[in-house]
This record gives sequence, C-alpha cells and structure tokens, in this order.
Amino acid sequence: MSTATLPDLISAAQTTEEQFLRHIFVRDQMAEWTKNPLIMAKAEGVYYWDVAGKRYLDALSGIYVVSVGHANRRVLEALRKQLETLHFSPPMHGTNPLAVQLANRLSELAPEYNGEQAGWTVKFQCGGSEVTEAAIKLARQYHKLTGSPGKYKIIGRYQSWHGSTMASLSASGLKSRKTVNEPLAPGFLHVFPPTCYRCPFGKQYPDCGITCATIINDVIDMEDPATVAAIIVEPIGHTGGVIDPPEEYLPILRDICDRHNILLIFDEIITGIGRTGNMFAAQTFGVTPDILCIGKGLSGGTVPLSAMLCRRSLADAFWGPIAENPGFVEGHTFEGNPISCAAGLAVLDEILERDLCTNARVQGQRLRAGLERLAKKHGIIGDIRGKGLFQGIEFVKNPATKERFPQAMAFGVQVGRRALQNGMLCRFDPHWIALGPALTFTAEQIDELLAILDRSIGEVLATI
Ligand SMILES: Cc1ncc(COP(=O)(O)O)c(C=O)c1O
Repeated sequence: MSTATLPDLISAAQTTEEQFLRHIFVRDQMAEWTKNPLIMAKAEGVYYWDVAGKRYLDALSGIYVVSVGHANRRVLEALRKQLETLHFSPPMHGTNPLAVQLANRLSELAPEYNGEQAGWTVKFQCGGSEVTEAAIKLARQYHKLTGSPGKYKIIGRYQSWHGSTMASLSASGLKSRKTVNEPLAPGFLHVFPPTCYRCPFGKQYPDCGITCATIINDVIDMEDPATVAAIIVEPIGHTGGVIDPPEEYLPILRDICDRHNILLIFDEIITGIGRTGNMFAAQTFGVTPDILCIGKGLSGGTVPLSAMLCRRSLADAFWGPIAENPGFVEGHTFEGNPISCAAGLAVLDEILERDLCTNARVQGQRLRAGLERLAKKHGIIGDIRGKGLFQGIEFVKNPATKERFPQAMAFGVQVGRRALQNGMLCRFDPHWIALGPALTFTAEQIDELLAILDRSIGEVLATI
C-alpha cells in the first residue's frame, strides 16, 4: 500500500507546511507539536508508518484501543459486510440486531455478582467520556427512582481520568486538565488513590490497614451517606502513572458501597476487553461493580464504540409505566450504531477464539520480567506497576530513597521521545511511562519493545 508523504499532501493543497497544519487542534501543545509533527499514514498488525514512511512498533495500541491489532482481517470483513447492509438505524425509534446481539454478548461475558449471572443491561455510546457521563447520570436517576432522591454526590479520585465532558471531567482528578476548565460541575468530591509507592498517608503496605480505602467510609460519614450516589474508580488508574491497587482495596470499596446504598462504578475504558488478562479487570480483581464502563478496545480502534453496563437489578428500576418512569434519560445520535456494533462483535470473537486474554497474561509476564531486568540494569526504575498488557514504570534518580529526577528534566518525556525516534510508541509523562500493546503481541514483539525501551533509556542516561 503506497501512501502520500507530507510533502505530497502539502503540494496537493498548494500551501506551505506552516499553513497546512494551521487548521487542526491535536492533543499536544500546538506550537510544540508543529515543530516535529507526527502524522500516521497507515498501520498493519502491531506497526504504524508515518507520512515519511518511518515504521513504529505500537506498544500502546494507539492509546489502548487497537486491541486485536491494526487492520485485523476479521474485524475489517465484518465492517465491510455491515456497511453494505445497514450503516445507521434510527436511534429515536429503536435499535438494530447488531446492537441487541452485542448487548447480549457483553451481558454473558461480564462478571458474575455474588456467584450468579448478574444479567447486565447495556447502553452504547461512541467514546469513553460519554459512558462515564452516562454512568453518573444513571446512578443519580436510579436513586431518584428508588426513593433516595437526595443521593447525588459522586466520589472520584485524585489523579484519575474519566473523560472530557463536563461530568466525566468533574469526576476526574487530574489538575492539569481540570484547572483550565473550572468551575466544574457541582456535586463531585475526591479522595486519594492507592499510590502505595508514595502513600499519601505516609504508611507502608501491608501494615497500612489500607487506609486509602477505609478512609472513604469516613468521607461518606462526614458528607452524609444520604447524599452520596456513587463512587467511580478505574480498577487500575492510568494518568497517575498506572496505579495498581493492593488486592484488598476494591473489595473494601465494594463493602463500603453495599453498606451505604452507594453504587460502585468501574471505569474500565482502558482495563476492559482483555487488557489485564481477563475480559474485565473486575474479574482480575474478583470484585463486581454495579456499573461498568468500557470503550477503547471494544471496537479494536476501527470505529467509535463504548458501552455502559449496569446490573439487571439497577436496570429494573428503569422499566415501568411511563407516567411514573421516563426510562433512562440519556442518549446520543450515534448510540448503538450497527457498524460500531459489528466491529464490537468481531473483536469479541477474535479475542475469544484466539484466547487473547490468556495471551495478555502470558505476554504480560514476559513484559514484566523484561522491565524488571531493565530496572536492575539501569538503576533508575523505582517501581513497576500494572497487570497483563497494561504496565507502567516510574523513573527515580535514586531507587533507595525514591527521590525523583527534577521535574524540569522530564526524564520520562525524554525516554518517550527517544523511543519515538527509535521507532516505538508508548505513553509518557515527566516521571513515568506506560505500555499497552495489543493483545495479539507475540513473545518476539515483546522482546522488540524491551530492546527499544532499553536503548532509549540508555541514550537518555548518556546525556545527563
Ligand atoms: C480511564 C479512562 N476513562 C475515560 C476516558 C475517556 O474516553 P474518551 O477519550 O474515549 O472519551 C479515557 C480516555 O483516555 C480513559 O483513559
């Protein structure tokens, strides 16, 4: 497949590079990005090629999205077939067979509750923000319908990320993305996440009594349980640097929620669809939430698709005579789009038939072992966190004292940029990098990832 290079595109537009890139916002700071713009032209398997023809190992599945590899034949074929049959069904009048099939499929695959099939009901949307937003709305409406109209507060965590829409952003705890948009929506409060490596309570696991979890009960008491609707957490947080909780943490949250009639929402936009070695991280941790949000990997990155699953016992509250019950008041034009749902069904088939959850576990162990070797070799990796094919490493100047490199040095950013130069995509931050390769990664590809990371860390170290 030949693709147009950046000079080709600019010359076809009869403009300059500066003007050509002047009319689009990307997620990066624009002036910074245009100095060295990364523009991808094509992808196949686990590799991208940019418009200059340079190849990149995709150690991030785009951004935890391309779960079954780029240009996956089964998914492409399902899309092609569906495009020719029905590419849009009227959302105000009902749905389409693909959406119903995918909802039923997800309900079968989603975790059990108290050892029994939970029977999940699904709302489809396009992106992660839309479904975490929907989860918050569902929690509030549920309490109104079931006799607790005063329950509206949502407890989120500092350093978390649930999305860019106003409620999902208000539930998030990422200072850098919140401050510019303040004031945010009312009714959201935040607690500290389980960052054991740097415990906010100055304690040490396992003698800490899991204060980060138990203190949430005190927060609820102080707020008044009659005002709290839900707690929303990513089972493994991403934006704080892959925050993997101790095994007791989520069961304690489940217990607190049960005690106070508070709904537990898992944001599995990243951790869902096989990434932690099971279809859902809820299964990896053995804790079932009331509402479960998935996105990213569900369509394998082909078309926008996300889903909010709620347990049948919650959904029942929305079935009722119209005079008393308007149903779940939430909707977007593209919800349950048949093309998106065709992709979702094909991705699930691919994962199940190729047993890619097991592959995520096996290759995750290989990746983890390799990262531990790099920690020994370079002496600047303080902590390695994550499960399956979702792993993060925190860089420190001194592992014995956990002293960080100076913020201005942005060591992790330097490693990430060097990895790009060396032909690999990963997620980077001043103090950490994260890896989220496709569930299809082979042992050889994990080794290639580790070799590029090893080289990139070494090159950055050589400059300081
Ligand atoms: C954990 C988590 N939740 C929600 C979102 C929001 O998803 P989207 O960007 O698709 O709206 C993201 C996006 O990165 C995420 O990582």
